[in-house]
Amino acid sequence: MCGIVGYAGGRDVVPVLLNGLKKLEYRGYDSAGLAIVAGGRLEVKKTKGRLGALCSLMEGRKAPGAVGIGHTRWATHGEPSFENSHPHTNCAGDIAVVHNGIIENYQKLKKWLQQEGVVFVSETDTEVVAHLINRFYEGDLLAAVKAAVSHIEGSYALGVVSEKHPDMIVAAKKDSPLVIGAGRGENLIASDIPAILEYTRDVLFLEDREVAVITRNAVSIFDEYGMPAEREAYHVDWDAAQAEKGGYEHFMIKEIHEEPRAMADTLMSRCRDGMIDLSDIGIDEALVRDISKVGIVACGTAYHAGMVGKYIIEKLARIPVEADIASEFRYRDPLIVPGQLMIIISQSGETADTLAAMREAKKRGAKIAAIVNVVGSTIAREADAVLYTHAGPEIAVASTKAYNTQLMAIYMIALELGRLSGHLDTADYQRYVQGLNRIPALMNTVLQTKDQISRFASQQFSQSSVFFIGRGLDYVLSMEASLKLKEISYVHSEAYAAGELKHGTIALIEDGTLVVATAMQRSLFDKTVSNIKEVKARGARVLAVCFEGSDMPADIADEVIRLPETDDIFAPLLAVTPMQLFAYYMTVEKGFDVDKPRNLAKSVTVE
Ligand code: AGP
Repeated sequence: MCGIVGYAGGRDVVPVLLNGLKKLEYRGYDSAGLAIVAGGRLEVKKTKGRLGALCSLMEGRKAPGAVGIGHTRWATHGEPSFENSHPHTNCAGDIAVVHNGIIENYQKLKKWLQQEGVVFVSETDTEVVAHLINRFYEGDLLAAVKAAVSHIEGSYALGVVSEKHPDMIVAAKKDSPLVIGAGRGENLIASDIPAILEYTRDVLFLEDREVAVITRNAVSIFDEYGMPAEREAYHVDWDAAQAEKGGYEHFMIKEIHEEPRAMADTLMSRCRDGMIDLSDIGIDEALVRDISKVGIVACGTAYHAGMVGKYIIEKLARIPVEADIASEFRYRDPLIVPGQLMIIISQSGETADTLAAMREAKKRGAKIAAIVNVVGSTIAREADAVLYTHAGPEIAVASTKAYNTQLMAIYMIALELGRLSGHLDTADYQRYVQGLNRIPALMNTVLQTKDQISRFASQQFSQSSVFFIGRGLDYVLSMEASLKLKEISYVHSEAYAAGELKHGTIALIEDGTLVVATAMQRSLFDKTVSNIKEVKARGARVLAVCFEGSDMPADIADEVIRLPETDDIFAPLLAVTPMQLFAYYMTVEKGFDVDKPRNLAKSVTVE
């Protein structure tokens, strides 16, 4: 989950690398470094801490026309320290490597290299790569990198420079993302597109086990057998500005404000004249004729979108759905039945557990449809079919707009399965599609709750524990609300099915404990109100979320957030935003780094 960047061209390489790393800081931010080959010498600068520390270290250093590689780290092997920061070098200090991924057999390789006299200076897995390249180097850097990666087990995206080859970067990839930016008289590598967008919009995706040589004027890609590989450029049509804060204080709040647009774009990409069309991803009559079960696999927030999927697909299409956490699914010897559709959900399209779960399902014969935000990502490329969400780049580590668009995609799938299976008649289908089409506009009204939520958060930010409760879809929504709060504000929180509280957890409710209760399932409203009364009677402070017209008793909620009326099944689409805002304002009040919470990274490309 580290970020890597590399540049070969005529510009001053230092700001290009630092700007690129800035765009990749979401991938890791516990240390940073760069290596430049200038004037025939390899220079490595690195430091523990955020990128700002590296920027200060590089102040005044100019290196026009040099090649260079940079890295921002999310520690896996060894604590964040100077020694463990990338780039890592061979003993002679003339080869430098940046790496994202995990070298699983690094201990074995390290032992072997140590027996050959190599002295290691870090605890990282990456350092073995630098020494391996050196071990196989016989005047040809590309050949040495190829030989080195053939000994590596695990995942890697690598950028390699050497002072003996002052014009080139060698890149290699397996199971970790790496893109090549093809510019004019300059070429780049990076873990993610925003890092290169300032210089080019033409991107080549490196495939697993390929290596590439990048110079100022050329990009040459080779497959695992050493044969030249053709690659068409993908033209990025979104703007660099979309990956900037655009006047907002944090990416997270900017991204929350982009939700109406992102949801509308996702819906409009598939919905015309009141009909949703998913036939190109295989959701058609033929699929539904044979379908026996739907599986949904994802991690974190994307898994919560999957849980909403389970509820609504079963409700609208009456097809059994199993939703799994990817890291569990891959190891539980899952049962894939003939005619099973697997839906894989991932914002980044690179999450290691999700990718492995998808491969497992594919191996066992499932048909894979992926809901992905990042175009050209590994999951998107390996799935049988992709339904792209149109969230645009999401930079804040806490996922917001991507989740809303994942929900949009899931609702579209559920409605189509419902129509095709005959469980939704034309009138109901049309009513639901119209309801879904109204959501983006209603979202603008939902966003107006932000002052109320910010005020409430300013009174509650010192809470040490928060409980989110709800029933049915409100419970699933609570799971996401709870994750959002804990991941950025570090406040302990739990999501509970409101009816389950009394079976144990209610023991934790005491005077002043904050309970956030969502009551947007009309058919369950009275039951949820009873559960709210139960916690209120034990001294809880209650924030209730309900529809505008709901009859929420005045004496049980200390604060009520009222949201525009829509069908119950669409409640999660509207109610998640106040929850995201609540997590945001609680974190701002506590003074923590909203966009880069501790211990986390945006794209989890390790197991
Ligand atoms: C969301 O706020 C989290 N940071 C995290 O749970 C995330 O959703 C999860 O890691 C899955 O990521 P993906 O959607 O990129 O696969």
